[in-house]
Amino acid sequence: MLAPWRTHLSAALHRNRSLVYAQYFQLATVRQDGTPANRTVVFRGFQQNSDRIQIVTDNRSAKIEEIESSSHAEACWYFPKTREQFRLRGTLILVNCESSDLELQAARQQVWANLSENARSGFAWPSPGRERSPLESFQVSPPDAKTPLDTFCLLLLEPHVVDFLQLRGEPQNRWIYTCQSNGDWIGRDVNP
Ligand SMILES: Cc1cc2nc3c(=O)[nH]c(=O)nc-3n(C[C@H](O)[C@H](O)[C@H](O)COP(=O)(O)O)c2cc1C
Repeated sequence: MLAPWRTHLSAALHRNRSLVYAQYFQLATVRQDGTPANRTVVFRGFQQNSDRIQIVTDNRSAKIEEIESSSHAEACWYFPKTREQFRLRGTLILVNCESSDLELQAARQQVWANLSENARSGFAWPSPGRERSPLESFQVSPPDAKTPLDTFCLLLLEPHVVDFLQLRGEPQNRWIYTCQSNGDWIGRDVNP
């Protein structure tokens, strides 16, 4: 059964479908020194039969080390047309070329296959965050759509707490959904 907040998120995605930037959200992680790290990422759908949000990233990027030391993360997603914010707090599951779980590896391959050729090529570029490389090193031949490059990672955000705020309304509406230890979700109507 889908988590109750999924209905709201699906509705927001649908109503904001004309805005390409409504597919972007901010993903915060925790650096090894305890400071927050935040960046924009693209929503790549939900993992099949789950409430886990799919994100793609490069295995060489700074966030990977952060996730390996602390899997805590929070996504913040604002939908301008409907004026709604979702804050999804949870843990990140890293699926890289070494992951042995067959289901997760299949999800990684599927997401890779669904990427545009341009997006796939980015994973053959020089290492992110390193000193600027010469232009020629960015001219790569498009990688095979069936075989993800080793640099390609699937990140799965598994939410535990979802804080949903609707600015529409006077007063505004806010609900907090919490996942219980048995996997059931409890929703509370709270003050904005
Ligand atoms: C609109 C937009 C979408 C982005 N999407 C992604 C993405 O899906 N995955 C990703 O790793 N980085 C994405 N980035 C780049 C990240 O924001 C960030 O600069 C990069 O991942 C390096 O972050 P890190 O050093 O914290 O690992 C995007 C940036 C923008 C502006």
